[in-house]
Amino acid sequence: MNFSLSDSQHEIQQRARDFAQTRVAPLARAMDERGAMPLELVREMGALGLLGGPLPKEFGGEEWDALSLALCYEELGRVDSSVRGFMTVHTSLVSQCILAWGMQAQKEKYLPKLARGEWIGCYALTEPNAGSDAANMETTATRDDDAFVLNGEKIWITNGGIADVAIVFATRARTLKHKGICAFLVETKTPGLGREKMPGQELGHRASDHAHIRFEKMRVPKTALLGAPGEGFKVAMSALDHGRLGVAAGALGVAQACLDASVAFARTRRQFGQRIGDFEMIQSVIANMAADVDAARLLVYRAAWLKDQGQRATRETSIAKLFATEAAVRAASEAVLLHGGRGYSNEFPVERYYRDIKGLQIYEGTSHIQRIVIARDLIGKESNQ
Ligand code: CAA
Repeated sequence: MNFSLSDSQHEIQQRARDFAQTRVAPLARAMDERGAMPLELVREMGALGLLGGPLPKEFGGEEWDALSLALCYEELGRVDSSVRGFMTVHTSLVSQCILAWGMQAQKEKYLPKLARGEWIGCYALTEPNAGSDAANMETTATRDDDAFVLNGEKIWITNGGIADVAIVFATRARTLKHKGICAFLVETKTPGLGREKMPGQELGHRASDHAHIRFEKMRVPKTALLGAPGEGFKVAMSALDHGRLGVAAGALGVAQACLDASVAFARTRRQFGQRIGDFEMIQSVIANMAADVDAARLLVYRAAWLKDQGQRATRETSIAKLFATEAAVRAASEAVLLHGGRGYSNEFPVERYYRDIKGLQIYEGTSHIQRIVIARDLIGKESNQ
């Protein structure tokens, strides 16, 4: 067992850290207040090689391994979950899914643009009546000669309002359940696609773009299929295997940021004539947070390492997401409390970490869903016993 990073992994970690600290950190509070992220950050991430990192060189990537990508998400997550969330959807749910399931022509057409940040990707799975129960979707795909006609709606689509290309899931027959689902790679300028911002203000991730997308008689050629007809649910779930590791790594970053902020505050804040870090009650909080951060890091890196060995890591990815997001929820809650009144104000970033982290426990599969994935993998199907 080797716990050290390679030179190339160190370099990628440092590149992501420099970008996060110098470009994102100074903007994070303003982005949160404004409710949007400047698109120039997307192009900068493209130019730095972050967006295309895991793609092959022929499509504009650098062939990063899964651990390198996790390190990049961890560094972004330490600073801003909206920017990290943007990239996890764009790179892990969309680009890596096109790489795994796309025809050569689809890869050549879309991947270099996505790697450069010229185009933005989104992943349209969730519907008003199909959130956790994704296979129960109502958006339909009806065959019409050499095309499919899509009707339905999707909600909570991260990057949905700014995306140029979307992976859209729709069913050709609801009676077939998950075996009826098809995945399509669709350009958002296609006639019949309408989109608007989700209503209401969200607890966190306020700089993220979350859209409601409607399809009304949207005609797409059969060459837009990603995978075979009926394989769409597997396309969706395999993409989530990538995305959930990204969310887990982002949560690890949030937990680390809460620990860093708490240690710094405990060293400088004085009460009752001494540093608050000299009180055993505060030391206990910080020690528990440090143990959580270490455990989350080991789980996230293990899931990435398994993928790098070419092994399927669905269960380990769900364990990493479950533990890292819940550890980060604990860390953010304790960090706000430890900062007292200052932690309750957006003058200190722990206030934003506390609001943002709840989203990571929900999207790309809630903690309940991660527990289902883990338990089903352990117990197995009765027919296979
Ligand atoms: N990779 C490949 N195939 C997989 C798979 C995986 N990780 N997981 C399941 N499958 C396959 C199964 O093998 C099975 O195939 P067969 O029929 O050939 O045996 C098929 O998919 C159906 O599997 P299940 O019977 O387990 O399906 P289910 O309907 O019971 O659902 C579930 C399982 C785990 C609950 C799934 O529905 C799920 O993950 N739900 C949560 C959805 C989710 O994460 N939504 C988040 C939206 S995306 C988002 O948040 C992005 C954003 O914009 C922020």
